[in-house]
Amino acid sequence: MPDFSRIIGKSPAILDIFNLIERVCRNREVSVLIGGETGTGKEVVAKTIHENSSVGNELFVEVNCAAIPEHLLESELFGCEKGAYTGADRRRRGLFELADGGTLLLDEIGYMSLALQTKLLKAIEEKTFRRLGGENEVTVRARIIASTNVNLEEAMQRQDFREDLYYRLNEIQITLPPLRERGDDVILLAESFIDEFGRVYSLGHRTLSETSKDLLRQYHWPGNVRELRNAIKRAMILHDAETLQPDAIPVSIRQTNSLATRKWNSEQLVINFTDEGVTFEEVEKQLIEHTLKSTEWNKNKAARMLNISRPRLLRKVEKYGLEPN
Ligand SMILES: Nc1ncnc2c1ncn2[C@@H]1O[C@H](COP(=O)(O)OP(=O)(O)O)[C@@H](O)[C@H]1O
Ligand SMILES: [Mg+2]
Repeated sequence: MPDFSRIIGKSPAILDIFNLIERVCRNREVSVLIGGETGTGKEVVAKTIHENSSVGNELFVEVNCAAIPEHLLESELFGCEKGAYTGADRRRRGLFELADGGTLLLDEIGYMSLALQTKLLKAIEEKTFRRLGGENEVTVRARIIASTNVNLEEAMQRQDFREDLYYRLNEIQITLPPLRERGDDVILLAESFIDEFGRVYSLGHRTLSETSKDLLRQYHWPGNVRELRNAIKRAMILHDAETLQPDAIPVSIRQTNSLATRKWNSEQLVINFTDEGVTFEEVEKQLIEHTLKSTEWNKNKAARMLNISRPRLLRKVEKYGLEPN
């Protein structure tokens, strides 16, 4: 069984990912393409694959294709001989060679130029290449993992990505689900970041209040796990209370959240039927809560919409323990 300790989560979506990783680790030859929005853990997954398929201490080498200018990326990847270009004052090995026997992660592969894609494909297929300005063939056996947050199928259609390279890299595709589709993993992750920063900054133990948990569950997390990690870090540094209340959660998260809730609420009320059925009281409670939310807790307005008196509404609010969150 591979060691998945870097990857926190037990939602069905993540368990599917564990399954794929396990299969990938059993076969070192297969190349892997990792997709997913920014911050979903593509690098974490690549490292997990590397660590679980290594036998010794082979290197994990990572190159961000979006961050390095094209002419430099070529010599970074393939190395160069002395005098290959102005400024190449000595022979340098490229990242491909460094990763020999280990793993080369080509991060943000969608940003690689077509010319370099051609050279890369050749190097992967033949397991050999020449350094810039070099005559000799260099042989390497590195596992290639590519990651992307752009849709490569679309890039192929725009002729921005080579089809043959795509199929070569994509022997197995692992697409990481956005954090908003991982259910309560968001809480598990938040709690693990709380522990981590508590240790790193010697802040002691902290817990999330129930309302804070609800906020985290409802937010849509465009920056995914990275955004959550930063939000927790910030909350831990700026707030001393043992329990992290919503006021410790960044305003942007709270605001988008209330907007989303308001929109949802004014559109529909969903009652989930269970095997035991649903009681009148449960429906009444949900209807009142729904109406209060959609009127932003204007009780006069809510009472009018429900066609009941204000005191009656207040008694129900009391009875069901409803309060704005
Ligand atoms: N499932 C996870 N469990 C624990 N930490 C995670 C998980 N997914 C992502 N992270 C953390 O979130 C941050 C972003 O992850 P990263 O792999 O760099 O994302 P990506 O490469 O998809 O943008 C990192 O700090 C990483 O350690
Ligand atoms: Mg990344």
